[in-house]
Amino acid sequence: MGSFMSRRFFVYTVISISLGLLMLTAAAGCDLTSPDEIEDGNDSVSVIATVTFETTPTPTLSPTPTISPTPTPSPTPVPTYVEATLKTVKWYNGFVDPRSVRATVVTDPDDYAVLVNKYYTLTSEYVPYDLVDVPYSKNQKLRQIAADAYLELYDACMEATGQGLYLVSGYRSFSTQRALFTRAINNRGVKFAVKRNAYQGRSEHQLGLALDLCPAGQTVYTDDFGSTTVGQWVNENCHRYGFIRRYTADFINETGYDDEAWHYRYVGEELATYLHENNMSLEAYYGRCQILPDDE
Ligand code: DAL
Ligand code: ZN
Repeated sequence: MGSFMSRRFFVYTVISISLGLLMLTAAAGCDLTSPDEIEDGNDSVSVIATVTFETTPTPTLSPTPTISPTPTPSPTPVPTYVEATLKTVKWYNGFVDPRSVRATVVTDPDDYAVLVNKYYTLTSEYVPYDLVDVPYSKNQKLRQIAADAYLELYDACMEATGQGLYLVSGYRSFSTQRALFTRAINNRGVKFAVKRNAYQGRSEHQLGLALDLCPAGQTVYTDDFGSTTVGQWVNENCHRYGFIRRYTADFINETGYDDEAWHYRYVGEELATYLHENNMSLEAYYGRCQILPDDE
């Protein structure tokens, strides 16, 4: 019996201690906050113990930072111009004075089909990067591609006509062109200069792609080149080698220049053939024929 009692006592003791430990554990895990006192309308006071359980806080995910892309500035080609030095537009017998028009600076001067005229100008700094010395010339230079084409033209002309060609003037620098234009104004007058001489920056000769030609044996170009045997052959066949006769009587209003039998321009075989077959000026091809006073 005594043993039974003491065993029961022992069991009670163990249970009591366990309960005590359990309560202590619960108390340690709980927060018995200050009770809120609430009026219940009967002047009686209830005490409510708010129990909050501490939980391990779920880590708040910090939002992945959105990387706003740096906007790539889209380069808007801003046309730059060379402003007119004369206040009003001046026409002389249907030829505009290039000093009286604002010219757009071309952005692709190395493109061998580029348009340069009274309205589309090169900068004073522009020099083609691949100028070479040209045989059968007055110590002239051209861009490599035009020089190669000229030699082919020369050989074909020689074979077809028995006579060669002579390049009187090829590449001309901005400053050379300025001297020529100024000299023409001073010596021959503005009416002549504006139909025959390009203003500085606006000559195809600065491209290294223009050729002033005469028959071999001569050293100057003349108006009658077009009526010579070689002149006629070049006029009819030059497109096969990438050249066009640039200024013709038919297109004076489009190009802004008088007929020049001797001035040829390299544009590449494909374009030259297209222009030849369609009897079209380079200005018309680009949809940039000059605007005449009556058209305005
Ligand atoms: N004679 C042409 C137009 C020039 O000077 O370029
Ligand atoms: Zn010329």
